[in-house]
Amino acid sequence: MTQDKLKELLQDMSLEEKVGQMIQLPADVLTGGGLVTGPTGTTQLTDEQVGMAGSVLGIEGAEKICELQKRQMEKQPHHIPMLFMLDVINGFETIFPIPLALGCTFSPEMAEEACAAAAKEATSDGLHVTFSPMLDLVRDARWGRVMESPGEDPYLNSEMARAMVRGYQGDLHAKDKMAACLKHFAGYGAPDGGRDYDNVELSERTLMEDYLPAYEAAVKAGCRLAMTSFNTLNRIPSSGNKWLMRKILREKMGFDGVVISDYSAVEEMVFHGIAADAREAAKLAVEAGVDIDMVSNAYAGHLTELVRSGEVPEKLVDEAVWRILQLKNDLGLFEEPLRVVDSSEAEKVLLCGDFRQKARETAAASFVLLKNEGVLPLREDGRKNSGAEKNAAPTGSIAWIGPYVDNHEIYGAWSFPRNKEEIVTVKQGVEAKGLPGMAFAQGCYLMDKGCATKYGQITNPSDEQADLWMEEALRLAESSDQVVLCLGEHKDLSGEAGSRTSLGIPEGQMELLRKVRQVNPNIVTVLFCGRPLAVGEIAELSRALLVVWMPGTEGGNAIADVLFGDRIPQGKLSMTFPRSLGQVPVYYNHFPTGRPNPPHEIHLFRNGYLDQVTAPLYPFGYGLSYTEFAYSEVKLDRREMKAGERITASVTVTNTGDISGVETVQLYLRDPSASVARPVRSLKGFRKVTLAPGESREVRFVIEEPMLRFYDIHMDYVSEPGRFEVYIGGSSDTENRAEFVLG
Ligand code: GLC
Repeated sequence: MTQDKLKELLQDMSLEEKVGQMIQLPADVLTGGGLVTGPTGTTQLTDEQVGMAGSVLGIEGAEKICELQKRQMEKQPHHIPMLFMLDVINGFETIFPIPLALGCTFSPEMAEEACAAAAKEATSDGLHVTFSPMLDLVRDARWGRVMESPGEDPYLNSEMARAMVRGYQGDLHAKDKMAACLKHFAGYGAPDGGRDYDNVELSERTLMEDYLPAYEAAVKAGCRLAMTSFNTLNRIPSSGNKWLMRKILREKMGFDGVVISDYSAVEEMVFHGIAADAREAAKLAVEAGVDIDMVSNAYAGHLTELVRSGEVPEKLVDEAVWRILQLKNDLGLFEEPLRVVDSSEAEKVLLCGDFRQKARETAAASFVLLKNEGVLPLREDGRKNSGAEKNAAPTGSIAWIGPYVDNHEIYGAWSFPRNKEEIVTVKQGVEAKGLPGMAFAQGCYLMDKGCATKYGQITNPSDEQADLWMEEALRLAESSDQVVLCLGEHKDLSGEAGSRTSLGIPEGQMELLRKVRQVNPNIVTVLFCGRPLAVGEIAELSRALLVVWMPGTEGGNAIADVLFGDRIPQGKLSMTFPRSLGQVPVYYNHFPTGRPNPPHEIHLFRNGYLDQVTAPLYPFGYGLSYTEFAYSEVKLDRREMKAGERITASVTVTNTGDISGVETVQLYLRDPSASVARPVRSLKGFRKVTLAPGESREVRFVIEEPMLRFYDIHMDYVSEPGRFEVYIGGSSDTENRAEFVLG
């Protein structure tokens, strides 16, 4: 529709119609079912209000969406098509690794492809908008939603943000593209105590420097929606925070898309204590620039009357509805409200071979090898054969033990597979290799009796069963040459409302690990998780430790590929693994303090703890390969730089092992003396290189003055003259450094 026609439409709409466009329904109000992603039964709308609603979340299925679209348009005086939105967070029917794992690939290209695949599948099913990418910077592993974030670094998260928006969106008129929604604006990843929905206290400098860049990258990439966050930011809920939503998001970042609240977040301002009732909440939200009220009754119940009473200028409603109509128009919905008319398109696309292959490659690239005492890959004469002789038999017999050996639930909390059997288990992945000497045992229950999950307490059927499994597992372990333990944290213990006060795996699994260790020390542990865990004892009792996160549809195949060496581990941690819960929040770009402590030492009256060093167990950017890489010293083509000039920093990376490997070369900068304290280092670039055995490659990074900018003592975003340190290596704790001076 032309802009003039769209303007005519807006002018011709009644106030009730316009407010209807600003209401989003939960699936169950329209269909009595659907995917419910928040508290239910809170929606008290009249039939007329339901009929006027401009969008709905949580409905999937092309036929159902078509039928609802037709029905709803008939009720609309101007037959305005609805938007169908869903949390397509890490794939749709082909499930990809959770976003925290995607961050570990350090591959924006893989992220873009994963999101393009998700968009193609979701749009083939009738959907128009995804509530992704989630770009909350995370530093506290107690918070369950770290699994949805690309990680703890502003630069990596920004690269991922751009890639994900490109993957979902592209040209919105294309029928296999969908609108993306950056979330949760802003700072949701830093709640007090790691408790979901809790208050967030961030200085403006920390907010601007660490937490906002990834959202802004999504805005600059053209992301069409932004979602308000549940949390108060410095005691103001985002859905009513005019400074945040108008001054920062719209004016400073230049966002001109649709702002949608999070689930019932508008009305929740009453609970936050800044609105006396839903009417006042509606007023605060529309003044803050919230265009769509997701699932609460605030707009539906009060916005029309607020405008009629003159308390809210109709102009604010017109602005909101204009943005909504623009989005619908850019999606081509006025010309083609039924983008897909039946499931024939979905049948061709969902779980197609190409997407399964992408999911398998992405999962393998997201795994992080934290430890390997020469036991991986599981091939004859160990390391030498990996990747070379793919059909070489493994050394001896291998016992695959643990509750994750034959488990389909190896996907993230925001995944809704229609058929779990399509998820490839570890056992299936191993059996598909057709290798001799493989045996499998459950070992123990997935979760301990009484374990609290968001869906209730776990009641394991019987202790006798547990004893039988344990006996069988120990017999198998004792009689095998190698043991692979598949352990982990269940998907229902992370994600939304998944905050925990411990960072361990179930005690029943730890008992299995300890007992197996007594009969066979040759243990490789494969760890499934939605967050960094405190894995000290697991690492100590295992000769190798591979974190596979929640790998999705092709998880079992990808794990078999990596363990047998058909794919080389290349993941690097996108979030720090703490030594213990007590260290949390712990992150690499921390501050030197006035009493800096060597991270692996404890000194009295210095920054740190009495009982533990400050160094985490595994830092951001860390990850092993099946080979080793040597780095030359950092070379700079000049030692001084003036504004407008650039420095080229380079290293030569050599594969010193006997198999090919992929290394993520990372560039960190530090400003050791500035008008405010600066992090001990900040990621400013990365490059993935594939090197054959013995091969060397020069890797160059261009350093320019804008990379040195920060919010100075006056909150101006500037660089300051002086000395700078350059670090280049395979992890954030590299000491491979050089220096230059900014004139
Ligand atoms: C949830 C989440 C948000 C999600 C929305 C719709 O509460 O906070 O991330 O997109 O509701 O499901």
